[in-house]
Amino acid sequence: MTKLKRILDFLKSLKARLIILFILIGIVPSILLRVGMLNSYGNRAVSIRTSEILSQAKILANKIVFHDYLNQSDSIPINAQLEQLSTIYDGRVMIIDDAFHIVKDTYRLDEGKTIVSEEVIKSYYGEEITKYDSENRYIELSIPLVNANSEEEEEQILGVMMVSVSTDSINLNYEYLSTNAMVIELICAFSVIFISVILGARLVKPFQKMSVSIDMVQTGYGEDALAVNDYTETKTICEKFNGMLGRMKVLDDSRQEFVSNVSHELKTPLTSMKVLADSITSMGDAPVELYKEFMEDIGNEIDRETKIINDLLSLVKMDKAAKSLNVTNVKINELLEQILKRLKPIADKQNVELVLESFRPVSADVDEVKITLAFTNLIENAIKYNKEEGWVHVTLNADHQYFYLKVEDSGIGIPEESLEHIYERFYRVDKSHSREIGGTGLGLAITRNAVLMHRGAIKVFSTEGEGTIFNVRIPLKYIS
Ligand SMILES: Nc1ncnc2c1ncn2[C@@H]1O[C@H](COP(=O)(O)OP(=O)(O)O)[C@@H](O)[C@H]1O
Ligand SMILES: [Mg+2]
Repeated sequence: MTKLKRILDFLKSLKARLIILFILIGIVPSILLRVGMLNSYGNRAVSIRTSEILSQAKILANKIVFHDYLNQSDSIPINAQLEQLSTIYDGRVMIIDDAFHIVKDTYRLDEGKTIVSEEVIKSYYGEEITKYDSENRYIELSIPLVNANSEEEEEQILGVMMVSVSTDSINLNYEYLSTNAMVIELICAFSVIFISVILGARLVKPFQKMSVSIDMVQTGYGEDALAVNDYTETKTICEKFNGMLGRMKVLDDSRQEFVSNVSHELKTPLTSMKVLADSITSMGDAPVELYKEFMEDIGNEIDRETKIINDLLSLVKMDKAAKSLNVTNVKINELLEQILKRLKPIADKQNVELVLESFRPVSADVDEVKITLAFTNLIENAIKYNKEEGWVHVTLNADHQYFYLKVEDSGIGIPEESLEHIYERFYRVDKSHSREIGGTGLGLAITRNAVLMHRGAIKVFSTEGEGTIFNVRIPLKYIS
């Protein structure tokens, strides 16, 4: 069973296909050629032999009529010629008169007997009949003996001449040729099979080489890149494979970086708490006020830890549930009003003016929770990274396809070299400042993910010291 499966598997391989193809191309034409040539040789030889005998027989028939052989069957020259014909062609000649009596039989078996056969009768009516019996291997012909000298209008048929000759010599030739052709063909076939097997193995080699290289890469022993340049195809596949490998490496690197960032970020509040707790216990009898103050600090650190974990959870949820957006029709104007109402206390605390401008009512198919998270983050950033007495303008607009949110602030701005990093997880332009105001560095990563999940786009423009503009574009109808 396994053996059969192995054979079937082999037959499915490129190598087997190539070998079979070569063999077919190499052997089938030669078989067809041999069979065709031999057949046409056989047919041609028989037809040449037939016409040869026919013309000989006709000449003889004329002489028979001329010498009135039917009445004088002891004519020596005619008998001699009949015998000659019969020996040369290894056959039998019979002369039959108009009473169906056999006047002459070169085999001397049936002389004097009567013969009534279809051919004889037909020939009496003037037909020339030639027949090849391929099974018993002889040519048979019967021709009328016509008295052409007759003065009368009508030609007179005096009798019939029947000749049957063996085609053994032709068959002998045929067999000889056939054997020779077969031997040559067998030699060719073996050479073709031999060459096919070698060539098949050769042609498939680059693919095997590739498979081995991939194995090496997988087990970590090979070079980092595949390079099998034997064929254009293998070269292309290798390039594609290397591209994929590169992308996987980048992914792996970013995953590792993320994990180490997460650990670090989660550890920071814990370290602070540990320091606070240790120092207060080592103090012995400290006043209650001091305890209270330290406990408050520890509480703040716990809040911070919770915030980081919550942000991380939001981010992970978005990665995982990329397909499962909970889309409903949401009135964006109302949603923004709510967000602003919630952020107003923070803005007031920093004396930042918060303004919402809606050009038209907008309702869109979005995931309300995720979009709220995204917009809150943008507006919160605009408030947090602002100056005293600054302002934040939030603008909502739409066309027939998208709605557009613009969050503009008069804040500290983002340095140009940081612009390409701000969407990275845990990235903050000024770590200590962000920490002071309770940032985790995950906000913009969450925002960007949410926007992209809605097939939207986000763009940032910023001038350091002057302010920042975030533009967001989201389709009104969700495209799944
Ligand atoms: N409106 C803004 N003005 C200036 N800097 C900003 C603004 N928004 C974001 N940034 C910068 O981008 C960084 C990343 O933002 P974000 O991912 O929301 O993290 P954070 O938790 O620090 O707010 C911030 O630390 C800040 O340096
Ligand atoms: Mg933020």
